Amino acid sequence: MAGEFKRLAGIAPWGRRLREYRAFFVLDEAALSRPVLDVGAGPSSFVAEVTAAGGRAVAADPLYTLANDAIAGRFEETVPLMRAAMQEARERFNWNTYGSATALEALRREALGLFLKDRARAQERYVAGALPALPFAEKQFGIALVSHLLFLYGDDLDFAFHIAAIKELARVAEEVRIFPLFNLDGRPSSHLPCVVKHLRAEGYACAEVRVHFEFQLGARTMLQVKR
Ligand SMILES: C[S@@+](CC[C@H](N)C(=O)[O-])C[C@H]1O[C@@H](n2cnc3c(N)ncnc32)[C@H](O)[C@@H]1O
Repeated sequence: MAGEFKRLAGIAPWGRRLREYRAFFVLDEAALSRPVLDVGAGPSSFVAEVTAAGGRAVAADPLYTLANDAIAGRFEETVPLMRAAMQEARERFNWNTYGSATALEALRREALGLFLKDRARAQERYVAGALPALPFAEKQFGIALVSHLLFLYGDDLDFAFHIAAIKELARVAEEVRIFPLFNLDGRPSSHLPCVVKHLRAEGYACAEVRVHFEFQLGARTMLQVKR
């Protein structure tokens, strides 16, 4: 199947909220009490909301070479493409999770608004950087999160990229969590088994952990990696 989402130009600047991240990554208060890095954070409000709640969080994304206006512009360009893609692929999603495409879009706008406001206030929390080489020190973070980038964009990002990216994440954080593990076609990522096998052979501990969230039908696990 060609996959409607592949018609989106590149990797979509589409951001999620803290409560969604909590569900994707099974984040409890203990996890959020450590310094958190959100990689490929885009216009997500995770860092803004964690900071507002008293936590320590930093976001990294190549998008952050752009000013807020340009990021907002990219988001607006994405909206009609996302609407069309969601409509065409609607049977591949669990709509009980968000209610409707309209509600989902509203949530993405909320996240964008919180992100833009926080970045205007504290640019230092938003670092321009791209996997597989992050501008951070060894074990600078307790936990590194990657939402909707690795595995999901498995056609754009190959096996070697996944290995290099996950090793880099494990260099800068004690623990790495990645969600989802499905690709844009709504199927389990074909990279996952080989990536896990390769990382284990190099001494990394990998666990596929069940989460209490499902939007892409069947995508109910995240990957936890520790070195
Ligand atoms: C679909 S968005 C997900 C945003 C956010 N993580 C969320 O779930 O709400 C994917 C993000 O990955 C970023 N990205 C693309 N290539 C990247 C790379 N090599 N390293 C880090 N981020 C990257 C894009 O700029 C985009 O903001």
